Amino acid sequence: MSGGENAACRAVDTVAAWENVRWRLSWAAMGEIVISERLVEALTADRVRVVVLTGAGISAESGIPTFRSAGGWWKSYRPEDLATPEAFARDPKTVWEWYEHRRRIVGAAKPNSGHYELARWERHFEKFTLITQNVDGLHRRAGSTQPLELHGNIGLSICHRCRQSKENAGLGPDGSIPCCECGGLVRPAVVWFGEPLPPQTLQLAWDASERADAFLSVGTSSIVQPAADLARIAKQAGALLVEINPEETEMSYHFDEVLRGSAGVVLPAIGRRLGIKPDDHSLSDQVTESAGNHED
Ligand SMILES: NC(=O)c1ccc[n+]([C@@H]2O[C@H](COP(=O)([O-])OP(=O)(O)OC[C@H]3O[C@@H](n4cnc5c(N)ncnc54)[C@H](O)[C@@H]3O)[C@@H](O)[C@H]2O)c1
Ligand SMILES: [Zn+2]
Repeated sequence: MSGGENAACRAVDTVAAWENVRWRLSWAAMGEIVISERLVEALTADRVRVVVLTGAGISAESGIPTFRSAGGWWKSYRPEDLATPEAFARDPKTVWEWYEHRRRIVGAAKPNSGHYELARWERHFEKFTLITQNVDGLHRRAGSTQPLELHGNIGLSICHRCRQSKENAGLGPDGSIPCCECGGLVRPAVVWFGEPLPPQTLQLAWDASERADAFLSVGTSSIVQPAADLARIAKQAGALLVEINPEETEMSYHFDEVLRGSAGVVLPAIGRRLGIKPDDHSLSDQVTESAGNHED
């Protein structure tokens, strides 16, 4: 082939490549999510082990703010100043007020299509592990039966001293702090900054990540450990690493695939591509709770 033909071919290739990019960009601009063949192949492989790690971002579309979203969480406090054992020792009433405020937000929120899609995945995949950093309990409310809740559950309470679980405990109407028979103060059953994660739950998350064929990180900045570690060990084990987040994170460059979009749109798009059909339960959910809709 002559140099001229070669150059012409390259030009045609360049045009074709640009057309391809433009096509993808235009689909992206239209809100279409491009799911790669590599991801489809990974998720349709025989006996594939799928691990999904979720963070505050998956619940953003349910109206639950992430800690780092604009405006911060509550009054002028930073979570780091309230979600600590030291803060509770210093001022348990303010800490409880903050959690009562968050319980009200969570109680009024509904799972969104991202949560429902993952509940379907639990039924669809033979080997499926859902790990969450969220404390809002929305995965369970959407139908996931075994989410590994690394940071506990805001709806539950425990004794700060003897760790016994307490049913329906909360701040008294007069602002009194609930007490345990052991004399300890009762607190929300969440993991605070500086506290260890529940060892059994962490071990299960670790084991699943080590064996994962596909590891999807959804709506997490991966700043709070062990999110970054779990992704890292999954990658070391040879898993395909996928990030689903509308924004770039500090971890983005470690991922094999990055899907820029909200969890409530991207997860159902993957599900549709895999042919995972909404069941009756989720069909009725979709009537009342469409993607990103958290208003009653
Ligand atoms: N819902 C909850 O239970 C809740 C809420 C706030 C914070 N937290 C706690 O705060 C810690 C913060 O870490 P984190 O990484 O989970 O949250 P984060 O606040 O650090 O990061 C949230 C991430 O979600 C992304 N995001 C925002 N909207 C999204 C959407 N619609 N779809 C997908 N992604 C979206 C953001 O770009 C960001 O990267 C966690 O330990 C968690 O326990 C929990
Ligand atoms: Zn006690």
